[in-house]
Amino acid sequence: MSFENFLQREWQDYCKVTPLAQMIHQLLSDQGEAIVNDHIALRTLSHPSIGLEAFEEFFSKFDYKVCGEYEFEDKKLKAVHFEAANKPLVFVSEFLYEDEKFSDQMATIMESLITTCADHSLLELFKLRRTWTPSFKTYEKLLQESEYAAWFYAWGFRTNHFTVSLNNFKKLSEVDQLNSFLKLNGIKLNTSGGEVKGTKEQGLMQSSTMASQFKVDFVEGGFEIPSCYYEFAKRFEKDGQIYTGFVPTSADKIFESTNRK
Ligand code: NI
Repeated sequence: MSFENFLQREWQDYCKVTPLAQMIHQLLSDQGEAIVNDHIALRTLSHPSIGLEAFEEFFSKFDYKVCGEYEFEDKKLKAVHFEAANKPLVFVSEFLYEDEKFSDQMATIMESLITTCADHSLLELFKLRRTWTPSFKTYEKLLQESEYAAWFYAWGFRTNHFTVSLNNFKKLSEVDQLNSFLKLNGIKLNTSGGEVKGTKEQGLMQSSTMASQFKVDFVEGGFEIPSCYYEFAKRFEKDGQIYTGFVPTSADKIFESTNRK
């Protein structure tokens, strides 16, 4: 499978569970803005079989290389970003479920998911999305310890968000301008840490919507829970070139876009 085909499948599935993204995509196209994807973000668990190293191997087949490493101490996440010429950036985070901060039950549940992934390649996992059937009771239990763990448990392997690059926009090229436009159109933004995250000096300014709500089929039946969100990014020159990294303090707040209201 080519990277373009992989990305196309991710985009279609993302649109299906994120009606908000489709709507914004249309709103921006109607304004005459050309939409370029700055990055996609993926979530996984910290384990040799499906963790960051496995993603590094997976993306290396598409000529991607690791270009940055990040840590999120409070949320117990590690992340890397990959770059490849003429392709969107890829940001992958993994959940450190074995951390002493979490209950024994957390590790037991996460390990049971990892076991079901054993016979599948990452490419297969991204096609299957989940190799387990989630229980709503377990989802709610996980939410008490980690929103990230609960999201992964319910949604599995899928693109958590796509990101609109504002760098080539004509009218809405500033993050605050874009935010005002979205709010005028009734879209709710993530306000954690302020609507605009990051500064020009840091090389990256971002904002994001709150996640759409979408029905997941749990063992107990269908329940609407936060799915995915849309993000917006403007990159600036830093040390003589356009910054291609991420800003941990901003990313930390953007993770919260999948929080329940
Ligand atoms: Ni992002």
